[in-house]
Amino acid sequence: MELPYAEPYKIKVVEPLQRSTRTEREEWIKQAGYNLFNLRSEQVFIDLLTDSGTGAMSQHQWSEIMLGDESYAGSKSYYKLKEAINTLLGMPFFVPTHQGRAAENVLFSALISENDVVPGNSHFDTTKGHIEFRRATAIDCTIDEAADTTLYHPFKGNIDLNKLEDVFKTYPKEQIPLCIITVTCNTSGGQPVSMQNIREVSGLCKKYKIPVFFDAARFAENAYFIKTREEGYADKSIREIVLEMYSYVDGATMSSKKDAIVNIGGFLACRDKELFDKISMYCILFEGYLTYGGLAGRDLGALAQGLMEGTEFSFLESRIGQVAYLGQKLREYGIPCQEPTGGHAVFVDAKKVLSHLPKEQYQAQTLAVELYLEGGVRGVEIGALLADRDPKTRENRYPDLELLRLAIPRRVYTNNHMDYVAACLANIYKRRAQITTGLKIVREAPIMRHFTVELEKV
Ligand code: F0G
Repeated sequence: MELPYAEPYKIKVVEPLQRSTRTEREEWIKQAGYNLFNLRSEQVFIDLLTDSGTGAMSQHQWSEIMLGDESYAGSKSYYKLKEAINTLLGMPFFVPTHQGRAAENVLFSALISENDVVPGNSHFDTTKGHIEFRRATAIDCTIDEAADTTLYHPFKGNIDLNKLEDVFKTYPKEQIPLCIITVTCNTSGGQPVSMQNIREVSGLCKKYKIPVFFDAARFAENAYFIKTREEGYADKSIREIVLEMYSYVDGATMSSKKDAIVNIGGFLACRDKELFDKISMYCILFEGYLTYGGLAGRDLGALAQGLMEGTEFSFLESRIGQVAYLGQKLREYGIPCQEPTGGHAVFVDAKKVLSHLPKEQYQAQTLAVELYLEGGVRGVEIGALLADRDPKTRENRYPDLELLRLAIPRRVYTNNHMDYVAACLANIYKRRAQITTGLKIVREAPIMRHFTVELEKV
């Protein structure tokens, strides 16, 4: 018999979870304004809100917490991180930041001005937020295949080269400060970008003299997909693939709360000394001195160690395997999901599950609330609430996809938890025709409204 798969770690510390009744959850979600961000974590049984900062650190990472050097300048922990970034990513310069969006803030302060355009593949919401906050525009150049959840494509995060070249031809070079490749592409469903696409985008950017950066939150998961799906990479190690990926870009912002398996942290890396000098000023202004940038020494050490662990094949195989396991379960129950399953999350196609509800009633948010009521499982809406209003017309933007994202924290839940989540969704799917009304907005913020929006039942 072929031996079954098993995790390459065992569990040393456990954290109890609380169950609740449906009646309790009905009251709590109402009090939360039907916004899952407003729930207290004790009101949640299985928390799939995000895979960001929610992973379980290893004993080696916890050791780094004790070894942390808290010197204001030149800390040993900083040099550990520098060594990891230099060798793993091949990037000579970097500044630590407190998380990913802080790296975006530092980089964009140096590069983006009013009326600029920034092409990329479905920019993440904080990335888009930081671009629009500067009165610039994010232009989505993702391949069209990404919007069809039923279609199998191995690299749905790819950038459409024609769309990208159109941007380069339409706007003068001075108005395009950078192009961003998000690996993996969170918004399109945790979907990877192929090495070929990275290479071609980089080539096109070079031709038009536009710098190209990674939004590298999940770069290691992207490398895993390149290894397992792209011709010519099966025999390469994850770290070899990572080095090649980074060789095509001028720099990267990274939220280390994902693939570096830390609870807080980020950084901004680049190749160019002149750009480094520019970002250094903003780092000191917004984040802190260059050798800690908004983090404690212990966080820098845990991050350096996490980068090493996060780029191990056996870890990635187990992590992405668990996400695929949940995706497969849902598919067996007939629940429509983004095909293929992404690296960090399963994306349920809420537009198909609740096709009888109008988009103005926020199908994905309605499904997220139903999942919470059913079993105390918290997912997150990736749909019209997140897409926000058009900054100029203030009209609601309705994206092609209305998704319920179930993001799996790293090394935290077992496959029994996955079975539980799948059963909850199966029950909802069976009674979906009885869900006859959705939600409407009562109060919203002018930008990034989904975090604080308050809703009520229609
Ligand atoms: N880029 C991507 C692709 C992300 O997914 C995130 C965060 C960020 C940038 C910002 O990083 O949170 O450290 O400031 N994504 C989280 C999520 C919040 O749930 O997907 P941050």
